[in-house]
Amino acid sequence: MKSIVILISGRGSNMEAIVNAGIPGARIAAVISNRPDAKGLAFAAARGIPTAVVDHKAFPSREAFDAALAETIDTHGAELVVLAGFMRVLTDAFVRRYEGRLMNIHPSLLPSFPGLHTHQRAIEAGVRAHGATVHFVTPALDCGPVVIQAVVPVLPGDDEDSLSARVLRQEHRIYPQAVRWFVEDRLTVTAQGQVRVRDEAVDEAGWTIPSLDRVPGAGACDSRPS
Ligand code: GAR
Repeated sequence: MKSIVILISGRGSNMEAIVNAGIPGARIAAVISNRPDAKGLAFAAARGIPTAVVDHKAFPSREAFDAALAETIDTHGAELVVLAGFMRVLTDAFVRRYEGRLMNIHPSLLPSFPGLHTHQRAIEAGVRAHGATVHFVTPALDCGPVVIQAVVPVLPGDDEDSLSARVLRQEHRIYPQAVRWFVEDRLTVTAQGQVRVRDEAVDEAGWTIPSLDRVPGAGACDSRPS
């Protein structure tokens, strides 16, 4: 069994999708929130999953918060740490501590639209395709080796709500898939930062393919917003 700790900040629908997937070989060891009022905590508790709150407002610095968060995570012996709508920028020290076993989901086709308000920005940019990305976390914000992406169309008349709902449905599909691959020991990251998925056929006809390459020179990874 691999122990998984899921970090949330709010609704927790991605966490729910991962829990509901019932991934063989995975044990959800804890759900931790940085906000005491995170709605997802109730779902986890109702499922008998240990929950904890590490309230970022109680700490004088990012470093102090991250240290307390890591301590709480480590009490559950996490082999994989899953960021599921966890809306805090993490320090480099925290990211390095969990390197290779820290995953995030971001609501855009990275490296497009890192940061916030991704759906509105996609509409304003006039892109025809949008989506979501699961990636391993590296110190640069919303960057790091791409594990899986899902693509959705941007339709005429879409607003932020309709587009985010379309993307969220795909998030709930790809995040459990990425976690499943990790639990099955099928993911490796090449020296160039590309994820390989062992024994996974690439489906050219579908919207979702395991990512085999990255966009060279795309600037999203160059800097970290302050
Ligand atoms: C999801 O759409 C997730 O991709 C996004 O927050 C939402 C959380 O929803 N994450 C980020 O924007 C991270 N930068 P959820 O709490 O229902 O899973």
